[in-house]
Amino acid sequence: MSAPAPARRWPLTCPRPSAIRSNARLPDLEPAAAKELGQNALLNSSQLLKPSAKPPQVLRNEIESVLISAPRLARRINALARRIETDFAGRDLVVVALLNGTVMFLADLLRGLSLPLRLDFIGVSSYGAGIRPGDLIFTKELRLDVRGRDVLLVDDILDTGRTISRVMAKLRPLEPRDIKICVLLDKPSRREERINADYVGFAIPNHFVVGYGLDYAERYRNLPFVGVLHPQLYKA
Ligand code: PRP
Repeated sequence: MSAPAPARRWPLTCPRPSAIRSNARLPDLEPAAAKELGQNALLNSSQLLKPSAKPPQVLRNEIESVLISAPRLARRINALARRIETDFAGRDLVVVALLNGTVMFLADLLRGLSLPLRLDFIGVSSYGAGIRPGDLIFTKELRLDVRGRDVLLVDDILDTGRTISRVMAKLRPLEPRDIKICVLLDKPSRREERINADYVGFAIPNHFVVGYGLDYAERYRNLPFVGVLHPQLYKA
């Protein structure tokens, strides 16, 4: 058994639900990436998000930079929620979220949605603790009936597209009326499958990102921001 890791602290600046609601009239502050990705257009590198700030001192050996701060996440997620509310008004909506990485994004997105909806989860994960994509395993199956309903599939990151592609192949035979894909992060440069998201929080370059639900070897999910992992942690 290995010795426990030393306790680490960082500023807990995650937006409270009230903070998200009070920003309800803020404009969408990521218009370039959102518009382009919303129209499934190709991105060039100048349109992708760039690292913005240094992480808290105690994390600087592990987190190279903050890519998306907590306030920026809150503003963008609020804008996504407004769009989803408009698009799904009057529909029979089932939100299907993919475990585990989506938990932070999902919680903030759902609190921003005033639509009636149902919620269920699919557990899906790649084998191993490393960064190379491996085989997928399903750890939890969908329980709600989605036949004839509008599904909003929510995930934290669209990377190679293998996960969402496999999940779509499971969902389509269940005969939902429609399936739309919503992801917080999109890494278009790594795509292997022909998958595009309908709702994208941020298009990002090919950095190894952690925090706000995303992990490396199951760590860093609780960071309140999206950060870039220091390459020394995963490069031998
Ligand atoms: C991550 C992430 C996405 C998937 C994206 O899941 O949460 O579901 O990878 O990668 P892809 O587009 O290349 O398939 P992971 O398997 O690491 O499990 P987790 O959600 O538990 O972190």
